[in-house]
Amino acid sequence: NSPLKVAVLGCGSVGSQVVRLIGEQADDLAARVGAPVELAGVAVRRIDAPREVDVPAELLTTDAAGLVARDDVDVVIEVIGGIEPARTLILSALENGASVVTANKALLAEDGATLFEAAEKAGRDLYYEAAVAGAIPILRPLRESLAGDKVTRVLGIVNGTTNFILDKMDTSGAGFADALEEAQALGYAEADPTADVEGFDAAAKAAILASLAFHTRVTAADVHREGIADVTAADVRSAREMDSVVKLLAIAELVPAAGEEDPGVSVRVHPAMIPRSHPLASVREAYNAVFVESEAAGQLMFYGPGAGGAPTASAVLGDLVSVARHHRQGTRGVGESVYADRAVLPMGET
Ligand code: HSE
Repeated sequence: NSPLKVAVLGCGSVGSQVVRLIGEQADDLAARVGAPVELAGVAVRRIDAPREVDVPAELLTTDAAGLVARDDVDVVIEVIGGIEPARTLILSALENGASVVTANKALLAEDGATLFEAAEKAGRDLYYEAAVAGAIPILRPLRESLAGDKVTRVLGIVNGTTNFILDKMDTSGAGFADALEEAQALGYAEADPTADVEGFDAAAKAAILASLAFHTRVTAADVHREGIADVTAADVRSAREMDSVVKLLAIAELVPAAGEEDPGVSVRVHPAMIPRSHPLASVREAYNAVFVESEAAGQLMFYGPGAGGAPTASAVLGDLVSVARHHRQGTRGVGESVYADRAVLPMGET
């Protein structure tokens, strides 16, 4: 079988692990996909930047648009992040007939509709398991394994940085600023920690989880958001005295909507006190977990590393195998599962 050609956009901590795994797992990938999987190119901002893996010089390019436009590219993996140029590159990849794997939660939560429409029109896959909770398989279970059940609530710890900070405050009694400093020193928090600490990252993930769980369209702007910057050592201590722990939770649930027959959706991210006996209380350090309640299955919990280069690359590679198989066979996987038009309720109404 002729090789499947993969373009990787971005070679940061996730991209470099994706490139490494595509090289190291070549034999297994070929067996699983049914054809060799080869790199067509790796788009980077600077050719001479230091990176975690050695990428053959002939594969590196600063021309991402040119790489995506090549007609020998079958699958495009977008791990640049942010809205632009990622959106334009993904749309152009789909228009050119490539299938796409992305880890871009911010883009999916802001403008997923445009991307899904383009994938539908092109008859190609757009997979994004890595966008929520890193290595934890959660989007496929919501979209596929639970497709015959009715999910009623999703509770998640979906930001590793803030969980690390809150865990540190809980175990050592540290204040927010000291715990943040430690998270930064260990490389969890960015130099500018706003997206994590203010809950933007968790809100984007909450929007994606809610959309899949409730088959409706929720964007980041629909999510009520409160970060952890105002959580004090005293708050954490009082929780401890009540045998509880403070966690930044992403909560998405079906709730009765006033005057409507169908329930609406409430999606919010805020610090919450949870009893130590709840399974989510045992999620320590920078780990993530998503707790799902559904009518028939009951309670499920998905747990694991929610961030980091290699764990996130694991989810990207899983998607790569799926879309590469479909691409070879000229089929598509399960597309977007939006079919319900549910009201997204403001915080006060729930
Ligand atoms: N900054 C994110 C986190 C990375 O801390 O969870 C993964 O999306």
